[in-house]
Amino acid sequence: MVCLVWVGRLVFLSPFFLSLFCCNTHWAAELDVDPTVAVVRISLPYPPRMKEAFSLNGTTTRSEAAETKPMNEKLDYTNLPCPIPYEEIQREALMSLRPECFEGMRFDFTKGLNQKFSLSHSVLMGPMTVPSQSPETIKIPTAHYEFGANFINHPKLMLFGRVLTDGRLNARVKCNLTDNLTLKANAQLTNEPHMSHGMASFDYKGSDYRSQIQVGNGALLQASYIQSVTPHFSLGGEVFWAGQHRKSGIGYAARFNTDKMVATGQVASTGMVALSYVQKVSEKVSLASDLMYNHTSRDVTASVGYDFVLRQSRLRGKIDSNGCTAAFLEERLSMGLKFILSAEMDHKKKDYKFGFGLAAGE
Ligand SMILES: *[C@@H]1O[C@H](CO)[C@@H](O)[C@H](O)[C@H]1NC(C)=O
Ligand SMILES: *[C@@H]1O[C@H](CO)[C@@H](O)[C@H](O)[C@H]1NC(C)=O
Ligand SMILES: *[C@@H]1O[C@H](CO)[C@@H](O)[C@H](O)[C@H]1NC(C)=O
Ligand SMILES: *[C@@H]1O[C@H](CO)[C@@H](O)[C@H](O)[C@H]1NC(C)=O
Repeated sequence: MVCLVWVGRLVFLSPFFLSLFCCNTHWAAELDVDPTVAVVRISLPYPPRMKEAFSLNGTTTRSEAAETKPMNEKLDYTNLPCPIPYEEIQREALMSLRPECFEGMRFDFTKGLNQKFSLSHSVLMGPMTVPSQSPETIKIPTAHYEFGANFINHPKLMLFGRVLTDGRLNARVKCNLTDNLTLKANAQLTNEPHMSHGMASFDYKGSDYRSQIQVGNGALLQASYIQSVTPHFSLGGEVFWAGQHRKSGIGYAARFNTDKMVATGQVASTGMVALSYVQKVSEKVSLASDLMYNHTSRDVTASVGYDFVLRQSRLRGKIDSNGCTAAFLEERLSMGLKFILSAEMDHKKKDYKFGFGLAAGE
């Protein structure tokens, strides 16, 4: 009999994960313990189909009968889908609840020079909020021109560069190093001291898990891992360390999704708890709600939102328990021309933001 302690792939990212694995030619047993997500899994399958016997409350022992009879299709553990990236776990909810509202006017024009290369020009005019001590918001009018260049060599490489007239420069790279390993890098440079940022991440996509390692300036390190546990349920965890601020933390996340709904939960040792729920009412309509709890400040914020995707337009919006409402409309006027209307009203802070824009070219 061969017996070994299997240092599972999770070990690198979730320091608390322990996996014991024993096998011989007739049977294999695996015990997985992860106190951080409160999962204990025991399986006693036949070696070639080891994963099939995984179970959530984990006391399944599979008999020969089960071996010959295929398991319920819904619980085919050999063929779990790849989960969505840890950082995007709430993406459906954020789509409705955090529309990218802006204030003033904006015009975006993108022109493709060839298949791979395109240039963009943007003009932004509108008030900018100045940080201040007083409860009143102070705004000063600003105007910017932004020049951008994009290079997309599908499916391997994407490069984006942006230069603003105030001297800010933003560069982004996304590169598929192999089929499963992606490098992403992002840099924001300004001429103000200590305001420049840089960040790079490696994302690895497995058949039913994803992991990411991120490094940023200010000695920022972050690693995350997410694993599909059943076809509809995935669990993940992250650790991060911000050396400059001497802060570290861990976080956990769970996501349950079907064709009709998505529910997520996230907890972090910084004291943040976030829950979200999205109901897809139809192809065109989805409704979202979320709840955020900050244990440090004992603040609770709840919000509800909607997302209507119509043939020519898309309307998103939300209202939250602080009385802040937002709406964001995108209307396709003709091929390659889009009209955008944005409104955000914070009654508590008496802060009102209205914006409209036009985007031309794809
Ligand atoms: C949990 O265990 C019970 C028996 O102890 C079993 O009937 C049930 O199917 C198990 N649940 C899951 C999700 O495996
Ligand atoms: C990398 O591959 C994925 C599919 O695995 C694809 O969706 C993505 O667009 C690719 N990235 C780039 C930069 O083309
Ligand atoms: C790479 O990703 C694909 C899914 O896109 C998956 O089927 C495959 O198993 C992965 N390869 C490795 C080595 O993890
Ligand atoms: C939670 O509240 C504390 C204290 O007000 C604040 O410093 C911190 O930034 C808040 N956390 C988040 C994620 O908003």
